[in-house]
Amino acid sequence: TTATDDTLRTPIVAVLGHVDHGKTSLLDKIRGSAVTAGESGAITQHIGATAVPLEVISEIAGDLVDPTDFDLPGLLFIDTPGHHSFSTLRSRGGALADIAILVVDVNDGFQPQTLEAIDILKRTQTPFIVAANKIDTVPGWNPNEGQPVQQTMDAQSDRVQSDLNEKLYEIIGELSDNGFSADMYWRVQNFQANIGVVPVSAETSEGIPDLLTVMMGLSQRYMKEEMEIDTSGPGVGTVLEVKDTQGFGTTLDAIIYDGTIRNDDTIVVGGLQGPIITDVRALLRPRPLEEIRTEQEFEQVEQVAAADGVKIAAPDLDDAMAGAPIRVIRDRDRSEVIAEVEAELAEIEVTTQEEGVVIKADTLGSLEALSSTLEEEEIPVMRAEVGAVAPRDVRVAETAGEPTNQAILAFSVEVLDDARDLAEQEGVELFEDDVIYQLVESYDDHVTAIEE
Ligand code: GTP
Ligand code: MG
Repeated sequence: TTATDDTLRTPIVAVLGHVDHGKTSLLDKIRGSAVTAGESGAITQHIGATAVPLEVISEIAGDLVDPTDFDLPGLLFIDTPGHHSFSTLRSRGGALADIAILVVDVNDGFQPQTLEAIDILKRTQTPFIVAANKIDTVPGWNPNEGQPVQQTMDAQSDRVQSDLNEKLYEIIGELSDNGFSADMYWRVQNFQANIGVVPVSAETSEGIPDLLTVMMGLSQRYMKEEMEIDTSGPGVGTVLEVKDTQGFGTTLDAIIYDGTIRNDDTIVVGGLQGPIITDVRALLRPRPLEEIRTEQEFEQVEQVAAADGVKIAAPDLDDAMAGAPIRVIRDRDRSEVIAEVEAELAEIEVTTQEEGVVIKADTLGSLEALSSTLEEEEIPVMRAEVGAVAPRDVRVAETAGEPTNQAILAFSVEVLDDARDLAEQEGVELFEDDVIYQLVESYDDHVTAIEE
């Protein structure tokens, strides 16, 4: 262990992609635990974080990784459910993730959430690689458990090789259609200029050594300066999820991306009505190599240093918002920290007009993404909020002026039954979707229908 180990934080890796393309399975393989098995319908219900230490990575990567080449402590993976916008993964001034893995099923190719992920990666300028998953499903595939991908590809029949290559070049073509120059990862010289495609199988672990090697290499080569932070300062983080935890009431699943949070800290958190100032009651953490969302018994820890996932128990968290900032006060000036959180919230706030539609979203990040799409399309927004669609939203929409404005666009949020009834009664149109551009498209169709 060198001295630099203590000052380099773990790079944050977001795993993104369309529903069922294999994000959780890939992480499961890496963790060696079967989280998927514990999930209802194998759908990931929550966002979780998994720290994978360098030793584990080098063990899986085998000959491809020489741990002495690296001084980063490992990688922190964040799994995102495909039906949930990963735009929650924001931090001050952009993306929370330092780097991303975009998972694409080789048979299914690019799908709506793949495109949405690409849009957000572009907007936040997050470097990424593509994991072309499920290569084992190519008809006639002869699996070689855990092997590096070129080795196992060379061992396949000509027919299988050409089938797979065809699928891979389709993905490369899709990337190019979306403005990215891409190639198979072993042909990429400069990962900043080109997107590397890594063929993998979460079923047979083929290509996983390559995936980890490329991720480590990328983080080490291009991001080291950003990793050199003072991890002992007051912590800064992002709320991934606000949820009840038995015995602790409302808690926050959070990613700390700078500094340290301690179990006796006072923190400021972004809430629906403005900053919440509260005292940490407990810091809860899953055991190493396990996920926040499957862990039944949390261990209490005294402190957590960046980058890491942690569950924060504290009073008064009911109004906290997913995607909102968290800042530790400690020996800093309280009003200064509150002002910083206010400034961050203001940065995210969307522009609203006198008249326009009502928008609701599951997180601040998705509200921001939806609102920027509507702005591009010159669709005015009167009210924008995080949370379920409630009757009072319908009341607001009713008074929104022109008939085209009497609409609520709900992104990845529940519509309360009484709100649905009221909307029907009052003639307010409800649009619901988990993909932003589909939501906006169905609203556009509605406007066209009214105008005709
Ligand atoms: P969401 O969280 O719902 O967005 O899906 P996900 O992207 O996490 O997909 P998940 O890992 O749950 O996998 C979906 C299905 O595909 C499961 O039935 C997996 O067993 C299967 N699967 C994932 N990767 C592979 C693979 O490489 N090969 C094969 N044959 N099946 C796979
Ligand atoms: Mg999943």
